[in-house]
Amino acid sequence: MPRVSYVNGRYVPHVQAAVHIEDRGFQFADGVYEVIGVFQGCLIDGEEHLDRLERSLRELRMLPPLGRTSLKLILRETLRRNHVQNGKIYIQISRGVAARDHPFPAAAESSLVVTASSGCWPSLVEAKTGHAVVTGPDLRWQRCDIKSVSLLPNLMAKQTAVEAGAAELWMMDDQGRITEGTAANAWIVTSDNEIITRQADNRILAGITRHTLIRLIEGKGYKLSFRAFTVEEAKAAKEAFFTSATAIVKPVISIDGDSIGNGAPGEITCQLIDLYFNHMRQTRDHYGH
Ligand code: PDD
Repeated sequence: MPRVSYVNGRYVPHVQAAVHIEDRGFQFADGVYEVIGVFQGCLIDGEEHLDRLERSLRELRMLPPLGRTSLKLILRETLRRNHVQNGKIYIQISRGVAARDHPFPAAAESSLVVTASSGCWPSLVEAKTGHAVVTGPDLRWQRCDIKSVSLLPNLMAKQTAVEAGAAELWMMDDQGRITEGTAANAWIVTSDNEIITRQADNRILAGITRHTLIRLIEGKGYKLSFRAFTVEEAKAAKEAFFTSATAIVKPVISIDGDSIGNGAPGEITCQLIDLYFNHMRQTRDHYGH
């Protein structure tokens, strides 16, 4: 079954889906995006992702190409045309096509691209396998709270992780404190069972999975703190994990080759995976047909 993607008002065969060479997303990375998980036909935390998309647009003074209701119809239709029940949907909005010049163009219309792809979610057992993480400098800009398509430092860091055989690279600020992963938020659990993740400021993306997990954690009475932690603290932690729309909650069992806890996925981390899977099932029961 050939894939179909949405490009600026049209559903086109994926192999022919293209934007103009003077699209500012292509020339300047002048654009924003979202990745939303799809579980049994339902968008996971869909409204929250669309809220963040609108925020990213506002922060960059970019006009939304259409309203939220119309966008949601396009998301539904793209999923339907690609028969995606499980997988993800990608939304990208750029400032549109204009002659190459640095200032914001006066009259460009923003471009919208939507793609959908199928992929299996891990089983609960698969989700509870451990992953290695390495660390490195955070080479990004001061507005990491905006989900911009300008991802070169993230790509470089991810490539370092891949070459080191790790699932993620956790980036450090100048004080040796972890900011976040290349495409995921970083968390640790201390020896007295305190769950810590960095405060959502301009140095990290306020992850939607992070936000939902915070809500689920608070509902269960765990100890939770929002603060930066150093690499040393992370290495001495009892447990560690990272979160994103596609990774959900992934246990970390080593950082730079040093085992975390006893070198196996942590107990609290596994409880949080259960909580998140439960949340996904409830989303489906609530919105599913
Ligand atoms: N990335 N931090 C960064 C830098 C990210 O790119 C992402 C997500 C996250 C987690 O955010 P969320 O929980 O909303 O997915 C944190 C997506 C998945 C990506 O770029 O593919």
